[in-house]
Amino acid sequence: MIIKNAEVVLKDKVVRADIRCEGGVIAEIAPKLSGEGIDCKGLTVLPGLIDMHVHLREPGFEKKETIESGSRAAVKGGFTQICCMPNTKPACDSKIVVSYILSKAKEANLCKVRPIGAITEGQKGENLAAIGAMKAAGAVALSEDGKSVLNTKLMANAMAYASDFGLKCLCHCEDASLVDGGVVNEGYYSTLTGLKGSLRAAEDIVIAREICLAESLNVPVHICHVSTYSGVDIIRRAKARGIKVTAETCPHYFTLTDEAIKDFDTNTKVNPPLRAEKDRLAIIEGVKDGTLDCIVTDHAPHHADDKNVEYDLAAFGISGLETSLALSYTALVKEGGMSLTELADKMSGAPARILNLEGGEIAAGMPADLTVVDLKEEWTVDPAEFVSKGKNTPFAGRKVFGKVKYTLVDGEIKYEG
Ligand code: DOR
Ligand code: ZN
Ligand code: ZN
Repeated sequence: MIIKNAEVVLKDKVVRADIRCEGGVIAEIAPKLSGEGIDCKGLTVLPGLIDMHVHLREPGFEKKETIESGSRAAVKGGFTQICCMPNTKPACDSKIVVSYILSKAKEANLCKVRPIGAITEGQKGENLAAIGAMKAAGAVALSEDGKSVLNTKLMANAMAYASDFGLKCLCHCEDASLVDGGVVNEGYYSTLTGLKGSLRAAEDIVIAREICLAESLNVPVHICHVSTYSGVDIIRRAKARGIKVTAETCPHYFTLTDEAIKDFDTNTKVNPPLRAEKDRLAIIEGVKDGTLDCIVTDHAPHHADDKNVEYDLAAFGISGLETSLALSYTALVKEGGMSLTELADKMSGAPARILNLEGGEIAAGMPADLTVVDLKEEWTVDPAEFVSKGKNTPFAGRKVFGKVKYTLVDGEIKYEG
């Protein structure tokens, strides 16, 4: 199969070319190829997007999302590979759950699903989970996402042990004692609404702790969903010192501020919380200068019952797979001056490198994981059109550019828009 007449985003340049896929692999990229194919005139081909931070909710919370529905949302959003967090029920803390997820993903037969194992048994923060067994079963990283590992000694052991297995810890950074029930950013809008605030320090303290551990132990660490200007600064200085730290942020941290909470819309409730304008600008700066290596969704689908309650009681999270590319392209490339190759790296190349995953680049010999998008098409976010079970988005009504037309995984069309 040949993708014809497209604008192709290569590692360091954008070219007009045809791409021939054969046996699931990119066989050839050339100006003009003959044979059967799809005409992609006016469209752009990106390396299949990789989201290294999603929540698929299965096993245990199938009312919110399943591996099937989440994978469907992924390919609709242009993702060919996703890594799923272990805060399921039971938690993904054993080879049995890792294998279960992989078998469900295979059944769904949509995108590549890579399980992330829990750091501690049951994510209880007491004993390390069976890290070696999970790695052998196919886990690609470790995380306690949803919370931090409270005990610093245990976290140090986890990072050292994980590194022996060639795995990274993906750190959700939150000092729970300092958050103390806070649900939004501490600031003007927490005062205005009377909602309980949470300090930036609650996030920054743990970012700093994980970086200190990585430096002392000389192991790599990855910081999840950075939301504060001060967190960006800590990571920037750590990188300058040569510490092996990588970091991610999410579209909602560079497209929204805590002003969005003022009408008590629980779709704006997310952890870490939406911050202030100065944070939003620093996140964009961090993405541009490489302090923040990649963009993830932290896709956190919830059932309407979990959101249609008082703000304090609502679940944290945003359903992000179906809006991430358009939000990122619109904010960072169209309005932010970033290049398409840079965006492709943030959403595909960098996650592949950070977790040692296949793909991440359009080049001969790579898996034919490709995202074909119409970057000129403007559309309006409508949660009723989501295929994810989670309709929880704060972006309803927002106009964005960039509509996915085809998502190919191993050369097969898994989504057609
Ligand atoms: O907003 C969030 N939702 N943040 C997290 O850390 C967890 C996630 C979830 O699982 O819903
Ligand atoms: Zn998290
Ligand atoms: Zn998460």
